[in-house]
Amino acid sequence: MSSVLAALALLAASLSAFVNAGVLPTPHCVDSIAHISASAKNFNVSSGTPPPDGDRPTVPVSGAYRLQLRFCEPSVAVKKRTDTLQVLVHGVGYNEEYWDVSFQPNTYSYARFAAAQGYATLNMARLGYGKSDHPDPESIVQSPFEVAIIESIIKAARAGRIPGATRKFDTIVSLGHSYGSRLLNGIIATEPTIIDAVVLSGHTHDPLDISLLLAEPARDNNPARFGNLPVGYITTINATTRAEGFYGSPGTFDPAALASDEAHKDIGTTGEQLTVDFPVTAAPEFKGDVLTVNGAMDILSCSDPTCSNIEKEAMFYPKAKSAEAAVIPATGHALTYHLSAPKFYATIQAWLNRHGY
Ligand SMILES: *[C@@H]1O[C@H](CO)[C@@H](O)[C@H](O)[C@H]1NC(C)=O
Ligand SMILES: *[C@@H]1O[C@H](CO)[C@@H](O)[C@H](O)[C@H]1NC(C)=O
Repeated sequence: MSSVLAALALLAASLSAFVNAGVLPTPHCVDSIAHISASAKNFNVSSGTPPPDGDRPTVPVSGAYRLQLRFCEPSVAVKKRTDTLQVLVHGVGYNEEYWDVSFQPNTYSYARFAAAQGYATLNMARLGYGKSDHPDPESIVQSPFEVAIIESIIKAARAGRIPGATRKFDTIVSLGHSYGSRLLNGIIATEPTIIDAVVLSGHTHDPLDISLLLAEPARDNNPARFGNLPVGYITTINATTRAEGFYGSPGTFDPAALASDEAHKDIGTTGEQLTVDFPVTAAPEFKGDVLTVNGAMDILSCSDPTCSNIEKEAMFYPKAKSAEAAVIPATGHALTYHLSAPKFYATIQAWLNRHGY
């Protein structure tokens, strides 16, 4: 799982300029395409059905892939956070936009929020998403190999080998959304020492059925954006169905935020769909801090209007320093696109403060 990094394209974004009252400064970011190597065993899902419960993956997969990364420096210096990096991992149907929303970023961009709190961030488009490589959607883009890819990215980041980073990081806080949380759970279960603290959002250990959401081959849905992708790359149908799956009731979000989400939406794969439960195990050796946080109206992650099923999450992390849960009112699955986004970010920050990050 050693990772080899080589920056290809480098595109520096703007330096933070003048700070208006109440406006967060724009952090200095570097977008890149990095070569990331990983190896893992994937499932043989050529039959088109999920592997039976308890089946272990057996098909070796390895290689170097091009991954789209975005490293941002803090926009406000906070000395004790200089060597802390937040790694941001999106879910299915999204890409780097999820944690760095370009619509009214002062309100909705978590990356911008974190930068103003003194944290460096590493955002990405996962394998198969955004400008990252799009390998075979069934045999390659599955949860075991994706766990391995993100482990390689985190190890490279710790060592300071991420384009734009000029130093090592001794503390890694990683935030996941939905499928991204599942992958992070898989990482702290199998490599429990490479992450210090995780925020798992849009997530519980309960089964997740994404087939209802990712209902259409992406190339049929939007030929201009996805026309050259194999049929196993799938996406949501339109803004209406996206809102039904990912958003709370009308009034909990700005319709313009949903429109921006729809315009930037991304794919998922049949391989992900068939291996969605693989990384969602206990993490018996993880000794860091865990926060699970959901929107109260998240129909994918919550069993009832108080999201009472979130309470049992702590039992999956028996050695964790702490395992807490939070529920954000008037919020669906896509927490960063709701009017409550600032409350979601303040909840994460209060938790980070409490645990000394
Ligand atoms: C996957 O399983 C099918 C039978 O369902 C078999 O024909 C194929 O060779 C297997 N592929 C790999 C890579 O093991
Ligand atoms: C969105 O897709 C659904 C399901 O196919 C369809 O019923 C609905 O009319 C579509 N809505 C719009 C605005 O196109």
